[in-house]
Amino acid sequence: MTIPKAASPGDVRPVRILAIETSCDETAAAVVDDASHVRSNVVASQIELHQQYGGVFPEMASRAHIEAIAPVIQRAMDNANATWESLSAVAVTKGPGLPGSLVVGVNAAKGICLARDLPLIGVNHLEGHIYSHWLNDGPIARLGDPPFPLLALIVSGGHTELVLVRDHGDYELLGHTVDDAAGEAFDKVARMLGLGYPGGPAIERTARNGNPYRFKFSRPRLDKPFNFSFSGTKTAVMYAIRDFGGSVGSGSDAPRLPARVPVTDLAASFQESVAGWLAEKTVQAAETYAVKGILVGGGVSANQALRERLSAVAGARSSRSFPVLFPPLALCTDNAAMIGAAGHFAYQRGVRDGLDMDVLPDLGF
Ligand code: KG4
Ligand code: ZN
Repeated sequence: MTIPKAASPGDVRPVRILAIETSCDETAAAVVDDASHVRSNVVASQIELHQQYGGVFPEMASRAHIEAIAPVIQRAMDNANATWESLSAVAVTKGPGLPGSLVVGVNAAKGICLARDLPLIGVNHLEGHIYSHWLNDGPIARLGDPPFPLLALIVSGGHTELVLVRDHGDYELLGHTVDDAAGEAFDKVARMLGLGYPGGPAIERTARNGNPYRFKFSRPRLDKPFNFSFSGTKTAVMYAIRDFGGSVGSGSDAPRLPARVPVTDLAASFQESVAGWLAEKTVQAAETYAVKGILVGGGVSANQALRERLSAVAGARSSRSFPVLFPPLALCTDNAAMIGAAGHFAYQRGVRDGLDMDVLPDLGF
């Protein structure tokens, strides 16, 4: 396999990455130049398909990826006005995620690399959420060059992770959830409250009319200072619903909630509890490791209450000031452009994967 040279000062051609992401329920492809310039970013969402089940149905997700993957990649190439010859490499999410979904993206990437003699780069999806901050000349530039060390808070449907980023590709996991991920807790509480799927945006909308301080949910004691646990908070919401005579049902059954169940106050108090915990631990970790800034990523980073809480805690508590950066809303949830940015730095470091690359559903840091 020929490996195109990295861009040098005399070489005006950008390093152009075709990126593919199919780790969960979005089929996504993007073309990204030099880690920042998003030439196209196509996302085919399966939300409508999974709404009827109240969550992602893995087999249906893989089959929907199979239908969507080729047209989505073609659209990304067309929207970017990119030729196959202009690509430097193909980056694809190799994990973590649903095995049957990851396989579809990885096989599509391998097919392109084989046909076009291009290098293949497997990317950690979580790293992608961190690198969403490099896209479109994002505010990461404010942190200086290099911007490290950084603290990343990744909060999504499958993950809640606090990661120290010492350099490109140099990570240390400082903390994680010991049970439900933050987004998963939002999704489960939304289902109990009859608010539908995906739960995060539904809770956020409902919470706007509620009292966030009406219910206080206690936090369990955990062994590690930067770990999280949200399943107790979720169970506390369930008991509160029962106290008001409601029934949360099971599986995808709709809950039975009498009008006296204070849905808006429960949504607001739950959101406040999760946002408060995430904000306090994150700022504490940022102080401990004297980072230059906090990068937030993943679907839950779209949450306005979390954004406000984090910025307020960082501003009020810190002896040094460090900025808290959030990606634009469209880049918070899963997309392939962020995989392209992460793939760019891996490409520059000389990372190359073989055509026998397997998916890694449990990949972490
Ligand atoms: O990063 P993402 O798109 O996919 C995963 O990798 O999981 O995150 C999806 C998660 C879902 O749990 C969804 O409910 C949550 O992000 N989410 C939100 C908001 N928007 C999406 N959670 C809270 N507030 C939001 N506005
Ligand atoms: Zn994600």
